[in-house]
Amino acid sequence: MLTKEEDYQKKSLKNLKVKIKEEMKKIFIKTFGCQMNVYDSKRIADLMKKYGYEETDKISEGDIILFNTCHIREKAAEKVFSDLGRAKKVKNVREKQGKDTIIVVMGCVVQAEDDVIIKRAPYVDIALGPLAYHKLPELLKKVLSKRDSEEGNNFGLIDTEFYAEPKFDYLPDNKSQGACSFLAIQEGCDNFCTYCVVPYTRGIEYSRPIEDVLKEAKSLVNTGTLEINLLGQNVNSYHGEDKNGKERNIAYLINKLAEIDGLKRIRYTTSYPADVDDDLIEAHKNIKELMPYLHLPIQAGSDIILKAMNRRYSASEYLRLVEKLLKANSEIGFSSDFIVGFPGESDKDFEKTIRIVNEVKFIQAFSFKYSQRAGTPAAIMKNQIEENVKTERLQILQDLLFSYQNKFNKDCIDKTMPVLFEQKGRHKGQLVGRTPYMQNLYAEADFNCINKLIDVKIIDATTNSLKGEKVKG
Ligand code: SAH
Ligand code: SF4
Ligand code: F3S
Repeated sequence: MLTKEEDYQKKSLKNLKVKIKEEMKKIFIKTFGCQMNVYDSKRIADLMKKYGYEETDKISEGDIILFNTCHIREKAAEKVFSDLGRAKKVKNVREKQGKDTIIVVMGCVVQAEDDVIIKRAPYVDIALGPLAYHKLPELLKKVLSKRDSEEGNNFGLIDTEFYAEPKFDYLPDNKSQGACSFLAIQEGCDNFCTYCVVPYTRGIEYSRPIEDVLKEAKSLVNTGTLEINLLGQNVNSYHGEDKNGKERNIAYLINKLAEIDGLKRIRYTTSYPADVDDDLIEAHKNIKELMPYLHLPIQAGSDIILKAMNRRYSASEYLRLVEKLLKANSEIGFSSDFIVGFPGESDKDFEKTIRIVNEVKFIQAFSFKYSQRAGTPAAIMKNQIEENVKTERLQILQDLLFSYQNKFNKDCIDKTMPVLFEQKGRHKGQLVGRTPYMQNLYAEADFNCINKLIDVKIIDATTNSLKGEKVKG
């Protein structure tokens, strides 16, 4: 009996066979947005490999040019259209060389704006929502057979279904590409923060079953992964079913993962503060594989703004949570996301964000100007903030955040930390890896140190990276 994935692949492979030439074809993938998109792009590359497409980093080589898009802020979404214009030019050049090019757009922009894509980039061949990308081989087959029967391009192949049957069932085994791998355990979001498009682009929350996650984790570890970063838009509200159909939380899953031989580090991102439960706090105390670094976005320090954002916690609840986590494990460093200039944010509200930063002393952070997203409640709030005020506040906030990041990095000097080396650095003889706190660390080391955890003494630090020396012995 064939599994769903095998059956699907067998059928599609048979139909595609006629199209696959002697040599491997090439797929060029450009990824925008969050880690989930990075994960999805990797999975689509693996899927297309099965269909005879090898990944290339040169757009001009792309028999398929694929953009995996992000809709979170206006700038991110706009970027796609300029890249699409570039892809069209490449397609024209290739056409003159007698080569066909298929342009594919997938991800959150497609989900939100497929009609805009049709209008602004009618030369796009295939558009796929983030929960429909496993359908690419099927739509590709349709485009190719249409190409044979008609002249020109055939736009119109769009799939933005939120497939109830999870896309993960259709993807090949996830194999490691290096020391660190992402593993999506949860997708979608039910929180509906008033500024955010994610619940509309990724749909309602879905948690993958425990056994599926463990199987994927083992496949990654068996092929060289030492560190797994569990992904989800709201990862700590994970509630996947175990073998017996019982719902389990993320702490249970982390405990199970920690039992896998060879898995040295576990991380998870992104967490929603109100959903951190006592089991997860306990896990930070007891599980040595769980890294002492927690991305816990607060967004703003004012309760009025948090309420208007529909975040389900107050600033003091957030601080209490930080305290509880530190009590469980005093080594934890926190990072966060911030939005400045949310509708109605007064100077006083903004000061409260600054106060929170001074209190928690985040070791890393991402901060953004509020961006109006059509279809979200905040986009039509009356009290929108002027652009110059947003710019000013962002500058003040980022200066402060960078100062804490810099201080944390400088305080690491003379300490020894285990570093997981991932790849070659910019300079000869240099490798780059990550500390437990996700800091980039450069050190002189042999090539054979890649994919190994090695003790390194920190000898220098800037805001963005550390320099270290391998500890001998
Ligand atoms: N699920 C995560 C974050 C997902 S989006 C969480 O709830 O924390 C990543 C970050 O983008 C958010 O944390 C937020 O800071 C930012 N963001 C989302 N929508 C935005 C918008 N409309 N304008 C500016 N920043 C936004
Ligand atoms: Fe967006 Fe809020 Fe969900 Fe995060 S929790 S993805 S910010 S709606
Ligand atoms: Fe962007 Fe979609 Fe991720 S909007 S941030 S790619 S979930």
